[in-house]
Amino acid sequence: MMVIKGKKYRLKIFNFIIFIVLLIFIFYILGRLIFMLPLFNKTYNYFLKKGNYEIDEITTFKSSFLKCEIKEAYKIKVNDSFIKDALTNDLIKDGFKNKSNKLVRITKKIGTCKKYKLNYEKIHKNKYVIFNLNGKSDDKIEFGSAYNDEYVTSKVNNKEYKKVKVSSNLNINEVGVYIISYTININNNYSERLYRKVSVVDNEAPVILLNGDEEMEVDYAGIYKEPGFVAKDNYDGVITNKVKIKNEINTKKAGVYKITYKVSDSSNNVTIVKRKVIVKEKSNSVSSQNPKIEIKDGLTYINGILFVNKNYSLPKDYDPKVNEEALKALKLMQADAKAIGLNIPLISGYRSYDVQSTLYNNYVKKDGEKVANTYSAKPGYSEHQTGLAFDVGSVSRDFENTDEARWIEENCHLYGFIVRYPKGKTDITGYVYEPWHIRYINKEVAKEIKEKNLTLEEYLGIN
Ligand code: DAL
Ligand code: ZN
Repeated sequence: MMVIKGKKYRLKIFNFIIFIVLLIFIFYILGRLIFMLPLFNKTYNYFLKKGNYEIDEITTFKSSFLKCEIKEAYKIKVNDSFIKDALTNDLIKDGFKNKSNKLVRITKKIGTCKKYKLNYEKIHKNKYVIFNLNGKSDDKIEFGSAYNDEYVTSKVNNKEYKKVKVSSNLNINEVGVYIISYTININNNYSERLYRKVSVVDNEAPVILLNGDEEMEVDYAGIYKEPGFVAKDNYDGVITNKVKIKNEINTKKAGVYKITYKVSDSSNNVTIVKRKVIVKEKSNSVSSQNPKIEIKDGLTYINGILFVNKNYSLPKDYDPKVNEEALKALKLMQADAKAIGLNIPLISGYRSYDVQSTLYNNYVKKDGEKVANTYSAKPGYSEHQTGLAFDVGSVSRDFENTDEARWIEENCHLYGFIVRYPKGKTDITGYVYEPWHIRYINKEVAKEIKEKNLTLEEYLGIN
């Protein structure tokens, strides 16, 4: 009996617990239903036009039991990506989320929506807030000049509203596009924003300063030597390396030519400068039109100058040794070079017919006759046999780019020498450029040859 009684008692307790659980569940469901029950649901469509952007705004107030849910959905309409980005970022900071091309924010508040809705209507429908940009919404200034911000007009309920927050990334010293933003936030409840785009620009074109004369003369078949230039820009600084040169000079055709120097700065401001170059008539180019050629003891003198090239040779037994006057001039030149720290030792001076013969044959063995002929004279055809020519500094190809080679080119005429095989004149001299090979003539002739940029062949009128 005792056992049966105990069983019944446990069954009652179990049923009671089930009943209580069901009751709690039913109350819970009912509670949820009551709280979710909408008391009202109101949607506003509003179009906001602010300076340089527009917003389509849909705001829904949804009141349920003791709870208000405000859903704002903004569609921004603006073509300018800078303004759009600035506005989007600001709204995201305010809790909006990007959802299918719209910015959406849902705010939940305790109590009904009544007061929020009234506030919304007051602000949106009655010009309660006046917030406008003064001045241009898309402004431009030259870089480096001060920016005068014309600010905004802001009124709330017809009273000037001074709490405008201004933020800006404007850097007047750097070309670019910047945004100044102005924000008002009324009672932490309602915000409005204005944006001003300020472009910092560089409208000033660069300048090109030409070295040398704006009008130059070049001898017929001579070389035009570019005297150089410097290009500067107010924003980019020195932009000489960006200069593009158009040079159509043909020194084998007398006439007036133009060299065009063109440079653009990083803002695409372009400057073009021109230099006039006159290529002289052939007849005016050389000092001697009717060279006086004399042959004495097998030596060729043209206008009194001992002349050797691939067409004019020296007798095998011509053995004058080094020319004392030339050697003296060389020593003076070396001493002057040394005084400014340049070392131009003598590498090779007088060479007899036999020495030249050995040298030439070695070069032929090494490089073949065709190549050897471009840099070495055949025996009897070398200027070194006159005793008037010297190889100085170094006979390596790198010598061309040394201070020594440049100094020799600029100054050797002062001592009576010429660089006998200049750059770009191989078709005339028959030899490749030899910055080290100097030939003694005299100061007067050497100076004229240097100034007119001639070879000895051109100077003497010998082809
Ligand atoms: N290197 C020059 C041309 C000579 O051999 O005389
Ligand atoms: Zn030489």
